[in-house]
Amino acid sequence: MDDVLMSAPLFAALDIEAAAALKASMDERRMLKGDVLFSEGDPGDRLYVVTDGKIKLGHAAPDGRETLLAVMGEGEMFGELSLFDPGPRTATATALTDATVLGLGHTALRPWLTGRPEVAESLLRALAQRLRRTNEALSDLVFSDVPGRVAKALLDLGERFGQSMPDGLHVTHDMTQEELAQLVGASRETVNKALADFASRGWLRLESRSVVLLDVERLQRRAR
Ligand code: CMP
Repeated sequence: MDDVLMSAPLFAALDIEAAAALKASMDERRMLKGDVLFSEGDPGDRLYVVTDGKIKLGHAAPDGRETLLAVMGEGEMFGELSLFDPGPRTATATALTDATVLGLGHTALRPWLTGRPEVAESLLRALAQRLRRTNEALSDLVFSDVPGRVAKALLDLGERFGQSMPDGLHVTHDMTQEELAQLVGASRETVNKALADFASRGWLRLESRSVVLLDVERLQRRAR
């Protein structure tokens, strides 16, 4: 069992043998960048854990505009909403990079929920954390300006995907500037302006599909 999987909410509460048994009941799906795993509105009864790469969860407004609800990286789980509350998928899951996911269907999950309460507890904790984050994002949309939201999104991506190097925190987010704007919930122009402003202040360096955070403290202050 690799560390990535053992850190996933589904596995976190299990010992190695139980985790291996759970993994055996899951099926692996390899995806190429741009592949769609499921689309918003599809019926669904499987949750997924990312074991490699990144998956974006996108939602389209009735007028066609896209927002990104989240980007899921290794060890993160998605697709559980339609599994616990049968109904249409609330977002479209697309591979942001080549990616591998493990899928678990409702029937295979049930014995784990009833037989191992710690699995249910761990999944509930993951759901509670997601609700907290969503509430915070909602309040940021109302009370924070775009540069503040950009700073916050970069710090969040940095915590999850960042690699500390002597010159700063290298964050390979794999998103285009359009996708980054969709994640922040603002236009590409405003997000680009905020990024260019941060870069001119020396707080970060922009690279293709990645960013190097040079002054995390200032970004943290701007995100407040
Ligand atoms: P489901 O609705 O089955 O399919 C889309 C998935 O996107 C959903 O389950 C959640 O796992 C995930 N998702 C939906 N909304 C959010 C959100 N606000 N933040 C993070 N993930 C989300």
